[in-house]
Amino acid sequence: PRTSLFIFGDSILDVGNNNYINTTTLDQANFWPYGVNFFHYPTGRFSDGRVISDFIAERANLPLIQPYLQPHKRRFYYGVNFASAGGGALVETFKGSVIDFHMQLQNYKQVEELFRHKFGEVEAKKRLTSAVYLFSIGANDYLSLFLTNSSILTTYTKSEYVDMVIGNITYVITEIYNTGGRKFAFLNVPKIGCVPVSRISNANGECNTEPSEYAMLHNKALFHVLEELKLKLPGFKFSLYDFSTYAQQRIDYPSKYGFKEGKTACCGTGKFRGIWSCGGARLVKEFELCENVNDYVFWDSTHFTEKVYEQLADEMWNLHSYGSHSIKELFYLS
Ligand SMILES: *[C@@H]1O[C@H](CO)[C@@H](O)[C@H](O)[C@H]1NC(C)=O
Ligand SMILES: *[C@@H]1O[C@H](CO)[C@@H](O)[C@H](O)[C@H]1NC(C)=O
Ligand SMILES: *[C@@H]1O[C@H](CO)[C@@H](O)[C@H](O)[C@H]1NC(C)=O
Repeated sequence: PRTSLFIFGDSILDVGNNNYINTTTLDQANFWPYGVNFFHYPTGRFSDGRVISDFIAERANLPLIQPYLQPHKRRFYYGVNFASAGGGALVETFKGSVIDFHMQLQNYKQVEELFRHKFGEVEAKKRLTSAVYLFSIGANDYLSLFLTNSSILTTYTKSEYVDMVIGNITYVITEIYNTGGRKFAFLNVPKIGCVPVSRISNANGECNTEPSEYAMLHNKALFHVLEELKLKLPGFKFSLYDFSTYAQQRIDYPSKYGFKEGKTACCGTGKFRGIWSCGGARLVKEFELCENVNDYVFWDSTHFTEKVYEQLADEMWNLHSYGSHSIKELFYLS
């Protein structure tokens, strides 16, 4: 059997779970012009086309991995996507509007049950052990503080809050390890102060430094905890992709990567099209759509274009960041 791929986290990986939950258009992308350049209809992905999880599945020779909540799940033995746009490691992050990380873990445990039922104890365990578990989580725990001017900004120190986020991520990894999971692939958190929605809050149009400080602390702590888990848990293997650095290169030097615009989004309104209005179905109705999306690094005021995602997924597939495995190796390791 082919190696299964289980996907957890946020909009960088979500392929439409939020279409099926009771939320608002703030956390949904199931309307035009989302999806316009690849699927030609809005699938719920926060991009003009595919997202990173789609490209990783493709490189691994798997079919598109379906959202967990999609009715009529077929082919779930290739893997399932549990990710939810807006989701964070903490239950409090955009609470009530997203599928938080702990609920994603509960959903995974349902699939684990299905595997046991369908394949039997021994074969199920074998499949869960050879599977790759892919994560993008944390960005919303930090970005949400700024979008809501949360009192957490003043009641916790940055490192206290980061420790809480990392603690919850560690808990979820350990739970998956206990079900048999061994191969863990992570994207770290990008410089969230440089997405258009953060840039507009800075009068001079530069990146907003404070959100990015959380991201940098988080990334250090994430690497540290993955190294610790490798020592502590027999057979634990990980791939950590430096999403932050490689996404930032596109933002800072767009022309080096085949883009013309690294700061302004393709879809949205206001300065840098940083107002969260792409599609006109959210609070602000007016929006503009660029002519050639392939010139842009950002698709909407917080997400990248498919072209960026494809470049990053290719790097992630092959690269050994931080001396960890590449994702490709995780798929081929026994
Ligand atoms: C959806 O959420 C809203 C607001 O939280 C609530 O009033 C409504 O009853 C919910 N609908 C369903 C079907 O759960
Ligand atoms: C954010 O909240 C603090 C108090 O918690 C307040 O002093 C500040 O003015 C608020 N900032 C904005 C932009 O609303
Ligand atoms: C997980 O996050 C909650 C807040 O959502 C916090 O109270 C708890 O201490 C965290 N758990 C760990 C293990 O860090």
